[in-house]
Amino acid sequence: MNQSQRLLLIISGGIAAYKCLELIRRLQDHGVSTRVILTKSGSEFVTPLSISALSGEKVYQDLFDLTDEQEMGHIRLSREADLVLVAPATADILAKMAAGLANDLATTALLATDKPVMVAPAMNPMMWQHPATQANMETLKSRGIAVIGPEAGDMACGEQGSGRLVEPADLVQAVLSRLQQAQTLAGKKVLVTAGPTIEPIDPVRYISNHSSGKQGYAIATALAAAGADVTLVSGPTKLAPPQGVNFVSVQTADEMLSASKAALPVDIAVFAAAVADYKVSNAASQKIKKKDGKTPKLEFEANPDILATIASKKESRPDLVIGFAAETENLLENAQSKLIKKGCDWVLANDVAEETGTFGGDASEVHLVRSDGSESWRHQCKQATAHQLAAAIAEELKGR
Ligand code: CTP
Repeated sequence: MNQSQRLLLIISGGIAAYKCLELIRRLQDHGVSTRVILTKSGSEFVTPLSISALSGEKVYQDLFDLTDEQEMGHIRLSREADLVLVAPATADILAKMAAGLANDLATTALLATDKPVMVAPAMNPMMWQHPATQANMETLKSRGIAVIGPEAGDMACGEQGSGRLVEPADLVQAVLSRLQQAQTLAGKKVLVTAGPTIEPIDPVRYISNHSSGKQGYAIATALAAAGADVTLVSGPTKLAPPQGVNFVSVQTADEMLSASKAALPVDIAVFAAAVADYKVSNAASQKIKKKDGKTPKLEFEANPDILATIASKKESRPDLVIGFAAETENLLENAQSKLIKKGCDWVLANDVAEETGTFGGDASEVHLVRSDGSESWRHQCKQATAHQLAAAIAEELKGR
C-alpha cells in the first residue's frame, strides 16, 4: 500500500462510533493515514482527544472555526483525501447527503469532495427499513456512493435486525480494496449478469425466484470503481442501476442471453444472475381465464444456459469466466462439478441454505473455487465480497 494514501473519515453520531477508533488503528497498520471530521452528535459518543491520539492529527469539527479555515479550508480537507468514508453513517447524515444539505463541516465536505465516497450505515433496524431511509440509500447508490453494510444482529438498543455497523475488520477490507483497486481494471471490459429472470405464463403472470440482485449489483459497482467498463445485464430487481455502468434491463432468460451476447467481446464475465432453468412452453398470449373444474397445466422447456453458452464460445470467449454456485448441500463438490460442466474458470460457491440468510440478505460467505483448489472468504457484507472479487480479478489478470 502506498504510504501516502489518506482516508477522510466522517464520524457521525451513533453508539457504534467507538468502533472507528479500532478502524483508525488498523488502517495505520496498513499504511493508510486517517484524518477525521467529527460531527456534533458524533462527539457525544467519542472524544476528539481519543481520535487525535490515535490518528496523530487534529480532529476537525466546526465549519466556522477560523483557525481551521486558515490552516485547512473545508474544500481542501475534502479534496486532500483519496477516499471519504462516513462511518457510522446515521439516518440523519444519509438524508442530508441525499438532499444535498451543507449545514455543517461534514456535509459541506461531502458536497465539495471530488473523491469516491463510501458510507457505512448504522442505526435502529426500524429506522434503516423506513421507506425514507431506503429511498435515500437508492439515491446515494445511484450517484455512485458505495454502501458497506449494515449487518444484521443484536443492536445496542436491544432490538434485533439489520442496522449494525459492519465490523472494523470488514471496513478495513473495504477501504483497502477501494484504495488498492484504484483503476486496476482500467481498460478492461466486463459483463455482469444479475437478478432473477421472469418467465411469463400469460401476459399478467410469471414464474421467477427470490434473487434480490444485491450481489451482482455490488460486483458491477466494485468493478466499475476499479476502472472497468462494465455492462450489467439485469433481470427485474428493486435496486437502482449503479452509476457508471452500462445498464441493460431484461425480463426473460432468452433476453438475458441476447443482451449478454450483445455485450461481447469482454475481458471478464461474471454470471451472478439466478436464471430460471425452465420457461413455460405453452405460455398463453391472452390472460388465462378460470374455467370451472379445470386446472390449467403448464408445460416447461429448458432455458438456455447463459454462462455455459458464453464460456463455450470459440471466438469471443472472455479471458476470465466466473460463475456462481448457489447450493444448499455439498457446497464445494457441487461447485467443482459446476466449474467443469459449465466451462468456467472460477466459481463463487455460495451456501444458500435457509439458515445462512444469504439469499436476499446483505451478507454472504463465499468460497472461490478454481480447477486447482479453493479458498474460503470470510462471512462479510456483499459489497465487501464484491471488492474482494474485484481485487482477485485484478491480481489474476496481472499474473497473465
Ligand atoms: N446460469 C446461467 N444460465 C442458466 C442457469 C444458470 O447463466 N440458465 C449461471 C448462473 O448465473 C450461475 C451459474 O450458472 O453463475 C450456476 O447457477 P445455479 O443456479 O447455481 O446452477 P444450475 O445450473 O441452475 O444448476 P442447479 O439448479 O442444478 O444447481
